[in-house]
Amino acid sequence: MAELRGSHGKARHHLLTQHFGAAGLATLKGYQKLGGYDTLEKALAMEPKALVDEVKASGLRGRGGAGFATGVKWGFMPPPDGGPRYVVVNADESEPGTSKDRYIIENSPHMVLEGILIAAFAVQSHQAWIYIRGEYDRPYRMLMDAIGELREAKILGPKPFGKDYPLDIQMYRGHGAYICGEETALLESLEGKRAQPRSRPPYPAVKGAWARPTLLNNIETLATVPWIIKHGAAEYTKFGTEKNRGTRLLSVSGNVRKPGVYEIEIGVPFTHVIMELAGGPFEGRQIKAFWPGGSSAKVLPASRMDVTTDAEALAAADSMAGSGGCMVADNSACMVETTYRLLKFYAYESCGKCTPCRVGGNWAVRTVAKILAGEGSRLDLQILDKIQAGLQDGRCLCGLGDSAGWVVQSAMNHFPEEFEEHAVRHTCSVKRERAAASA
Ligand SMILES: Cc1cc2nc3c(=O)[nH]c(=O)nc-3n(C[C@H](O)[C@H](O)[C@H](O)COP(=O)(O)O)c2cc1C
Repeated sequence: MAELRGSHGKARHHLLTQHFGAAGLATLKGYQKLGGYDTLEKALAMEPKALVDEVKASGLRGRGGAGFATGVKWGFMPPPDGGPRYVVVNADESEPGTSKDRYIIENSPHMVLEGILIAAFAVQSHQAWIYIRGEYDRPYRMLMDAIGELREAKILGPKPFGKDYPLDIQMYRGHGAYICGEETALLESLEGKRAQPRSRPPYPAVKGAWARPTLLNNIETLATVPWIIKHGAAEYTKFGTEKNRGTRLLSVSGNVRKPGVYEIEIGVPFTHVIMELAGGPFEGRQIKAFWPGGSSAKVLPASRMDVTTDAEALAAADSMAGSGGCMVADNSACMVETTYRLLKFYAYESCGKCTPCRVGGNWAVRTVAKILAGEGSRLDLQILDKIQAGLQDGRCLCGLGDSAGWVVQSAMNHFPEEFEEHAVRHTCSVKRERAAASA
């Protein structure tokens, strides 16, 4: 287990969620009563490069899925050339099993906005856009209200805190597709086009929204920034592991007693997350499997709950930290059925631009459907193996294709006997046990 620097694995840490639940926190007055926007005022008096350096030193990594070093990404923004440059905030949150961005916005919309404004100043942008999932009505309204309050208080406008540095934030409601969360598809969508990924390079820092330099970060990533600037990078690095600093929010869902969003110190094991924070399985059931980082992360068997929540440990276990959506299945779940449901999602959500994803996803769905219907054979397992191999390893412009491949590959790797049972013997022992239990 990676060495933890703060809690030594057990205690819950509240850096982001410290004030969640405080009366009036969602209002400007309530947020300011707890020191809100003092950090923005402090940041506006700093050199932008010093802010970038502080975030670099904190070791913060993106919480949207890829886990890229945030300060390094900020440092990719080219020097100002007099033209517009943007901060685009990814609030699409469509990854199955992930709901932490909504939780942050609904609890503390001003913390999100403060982080966005600090980031905008750090990369010398005057205009931020929040691209929010179309179905997120309440979070949208809360952010709109908070932005309205900031305009009225002149924190948004030509001279925030008297500083001659105009700042503005606009909202854009998403188009209702999973692909809209992928950063380049999001930029297409923001520009009013069909959400399909762009080829890279150029990366958004060089050519992003409206072909201008753009910093694109996730909600949680930016919501962490005020804490780092307020307390300093050195304090932040006291939490987490050597390569994965700080805390993060995990959304835990599925067959657990207490599903919910939990702030954890990065590096605690999943046993702590699933068995303690989320209350473990229901009476008479056992945990069977978990997806540690949203449905796109490869599934792990319950025997690997000892794996820690840092990206390195998860990569070593052949999965990933992803979006922090921990989905849990108990022994009442048939892994072939589960794989089918997840695959249907990826096939349906494929934008169709890349052939392996467009064709492979649907082909995999049809093959698993055939196996589930009791019409499969060993050949179908070999076909599934081929399809998943064809989907992976960057064959598509974005990660959606890889994820569809990982869904099949990881389930077949860890639960081969269930696939074998369905495809070759045309039976399902989980279904039989379920029927016996309810008889
Ligand atoms: C298919 C797909 C969907 C994605 N959906 C989201 C999303 O809903 N929210 C998000 O923040 N990142 C999502 N990402 C990751 C983004 O492309 C990007 O890496 C992230 O927003 C960058 O912010 P960060 O560096 O702060 O993590 C998705 C990626 C893929 C491939």
